[in-house]
Amino acid sequence: MTDNKILTTAGGSPVADNQNSRTAGARGPLLLDDFHLVEKLAHFNREVIPERRVHAKGSGAYGTFTVTQDISRYSRAKVFESVGKQTPVFLRFSTVGGERGSADTERDPRGFAVKFYTDEGNWDVVGNNTPVFFIRDPLKFPDFIHTQKRDPHTNLKSPQMMWDFWSHSPEALHQITTLFSDRGIPDGYRHMHGFGSHTFSLVNAAGERHWVKFHFKSVQGIRNLAPADAARLAGTDPDYAQRDLFAAIERGECPQWRLCIQVMSEAQAAQHPDNPFDVTKTWSQKQYPLMEVGVLELNRNPTNYFAEVEQAAFAPSNVVPGIGLSPDRMLQGRVFAYADAHRYRVGTNHQQLPVNAPRCPYHNYQRDGAMRFDGNGGSAPNYEPNSYSGAPKQAPQYAEPALALSGAADRYDHRTDEDYYSYAGALFRLMDTDQKALLIGNIVAAMGPVTRDVQLRQLGHFIKADPAYGEGVARGLGIDPSVIG
Ligand code: HEM
Repeated sequence: MTDNKILTTAGGSPVADNQNSRTAGARGPLLLDDFHLVEKLAHFNREVIPERRVHAKGSGAYGTFTVTQDISRYSRAKVFESVGKQTPVFLRFSTVGGERGSADTERDPRGFAVKFYTDEGNWDVVGNNTPVFFIRDPLKFPDFIHTQKRDPHTNLKSPQMMWDFWSHSPEALHQITTLFSDRGIPDGYRHMHGFGSHTFSLVNAAGERHWVKFHFKSVQGIRNLAPADAARLAGTDPDYAQRDLFAAIERGECPQWRLCIQVMSEAQAAQHPDNPFDVTKTWSQKQYPLMEVGVLELNRNPTNYFAEVEQAAFAPSNVVPGIGLSPDRMLQGRVFAYADAHRYRVGTNHQQLPVNAPRCPYHNYQRDGAMRFDGNGGSAPNYEPNSYSGAPKQAPQYAEPALALSGAADRYDHRTDEDYYSYAGALFRLMDTDQKALLIGNIVAAMGPVTRDVQLRQLGHFIKADPAYGEGVARGLGIDPSVIG
């Protein structure tokens, strides 16, 4: 930084005095013609933009993705082009339910949102640290999130709202079992895995489609916080995870994740016993083994938190040739929700901001809008088709293979004939005795303040997942398991 800079107004006019307002006399009132004071106060009033409706508290860092294994047989995406290929990334971690200043050590899923700045556009994997989610229809998302936020009357977080909703939504059980396990409070962001969670698609150069799940495996290993330590840190160091990530990168201890995929053919999907596009379920790793694709490393902290992390905009609709969406209806809901949130939260031209802009050439006929600052297409035509050579044209070689769909349009009740319980039960049985005791203890503590009718309804789900699971929680709540319906 040069040391002879002159302070100016935003308009560039030198400021003669930044310590004393203009007043009428030494002891008199302010004068309205002190435009430096007026501008300073007015700009300050506008410093805050709306926080993200969910995932408001977060931390971000830049890094690099390096391909270690060739998967070009599945995908023609440039990011997977060849072993050794490197692509710059930006990753934002977050908690979900708390406000922008909330504690990093809450029991909550953690967001794991990665932006790959590929040669053919930005690819965003907007995932979590859990492979599944609480609901499987986007119609339920606003209701679900209301239960994770504050009670409209008391303005307090409400276990009653959460368990009331969950007890009416048995599809949440798999994710609840993960959330209240030891993994529900990760020790910072470096010691947890990330998951794309949904089923996505990969398309190869021959135009063949496979279904895919993305897993980011922490090279640092898994480390979780005991609930008592998490509660202490929430009071003594609420920015614990931000501090840990920032300091590790400053020390040169660059955290890494191995990107792995599970792949399912379209024929296998057609034969799959349950819906392979249901985000409340996982795919068997025995049947669909993990394949390593590359390593993601975070190695640079942002210079300015607001510009680069708060204004970062991740959207599941950011896919690139060779990587696509799937019939997962939650994913489709998200394809609408994120870009819409960004237009509201950051502005219609949010994709021009340096953290969001593609790092490959991009050309389109979008023009104007608030805060347009990229030259706005200059004198080039702003419509298409047109007669001008050199103007951007559609490129049919990037078309995705057709996807066969069938069935009558209707609202199908996916709550009938459904297996809500086997995945949650299997996860419970995978745990050792200590982990089961911890899970049950965490649930008992969380359900303690909840009304008896809601407790009983929820116990009915636990017991169907595994009798020992339901009976353990019941006993912890002082309920005789034999009364559970
Ligand atoms: C953030 C909606 C499900 C992961 C957000 C935001 C919205 C939203 C509106 C704020 C975006 C912003 O202001 O920038 C929804 C809807 C969902 C859904 C409607 C269901 C239909 C999920 C699922 C996952 C997820 C299933 C993970 C698998 C995230 C993450 C962020 C986020 C990581 C924070 C991104 C960032 O760091 O900026 N979601 N969400 N969401 N969501 Fe979702």
